[in-house]
Amino acid sequence: MLAEMGIAWLPGLVGAQAAAASAAARPVASPAAQAAAPGVVASPPAAVPAAARAPASAPVPLSVPAAEPAPAVRTAAPEPTLAGPVATLDWASLASTVAGCRACGLCEGRRNTVFGVGDRQAGWMVVGEAPGEQEDLRGEPFVGPAGQLLDAMLRSLGLSRSGGGVYIANVLKCRPPGNRNPEPAEVASCEPFLRRQVELVAPRIILALGRFAVQSLLRTDEPIGRLRGRVHQYQGIPLVVSYHPAYLLRNLPDKAKAWADLCLAQQVAAQAQAGSAGRPTAA
Ligand code: URA
Repeated sequence: MLAEMGIAWLPGLVGAQAAAASAAARPVASPAAQAAAPGVVASPPAAVPAAARAPASAPVPLSVPAAEPAPAVRTAAPEPTLAGPVATLDWASLASTVAGCRACGLCEGRRNTVFGVGDRQAGWMVVGEAPGEQEDLRGEPFVGPAGQLLDAMLRSLGLSRSGGGVYIANVLKCRPPGNRNPEPAEVASCEPFLRRQVELVAPRIILALGRFAVQSLLRTDEPIGRLRGRVHQYQGIPLVVSYHPAYLLRNLPDKAKAWADLCLAQQVAAQAQAGSAGRPTAA
């Protein structure tokens, strides 16, 4: 898969093995990937252990582009606050509220709601756009061809939806008919659910995939190409922008840029982990 992405690994270093390896033995991003994102420190990511929340033993000195304060991104609308009953729901109540939601017209055509999948205490949260046909049938995000590429990308970081370390959700929980773009009213109806999911997971890093997810979360109309390579914030959580896997399937050369984005996200996550290692925990 990494070869597909234009990436070369050092032999024998994958997943948990890479996590255990020393920095010198980490997999190496291809020169193409390293050149792809000026301003991004392109050293490849160490794989994130499945228990991604385990505190690091020592801080890792990293050079990561500074988080962009919200004003750096053109703001299309004021950020809503999470209000109403959704803001206090636990996982079980949130999932059942989504399953029964009839707040917009998408409920009429859905076969299943697509809530989210993965580790609910993950260090990473991946946010996509909306369910497609396969996801609507199965009730799980990213299960079609784009999902297979996403899984491969995550594997390269030592993460998997079943093995831990990552939680995957979409902006919309129901499939738009014919996979059309989500409408603003649909996003507005669904937004409290994703916000609450982010609050409950409380990840160290959010990876927003594709123009629609990126622009919805960051409340901007800037193109992805202008938002990549720096660290944004969503609800105080670092957010890195990348291309949607479905786009990558059609634009193979951009996989090198996606790899650079993963490297950046990995660095941010590692830095956050190192930063929280010495913090006292609540009694
Ligand atoms: N594309 C997305 O953005 N999400 C999915 O769940 C599937 C395809």
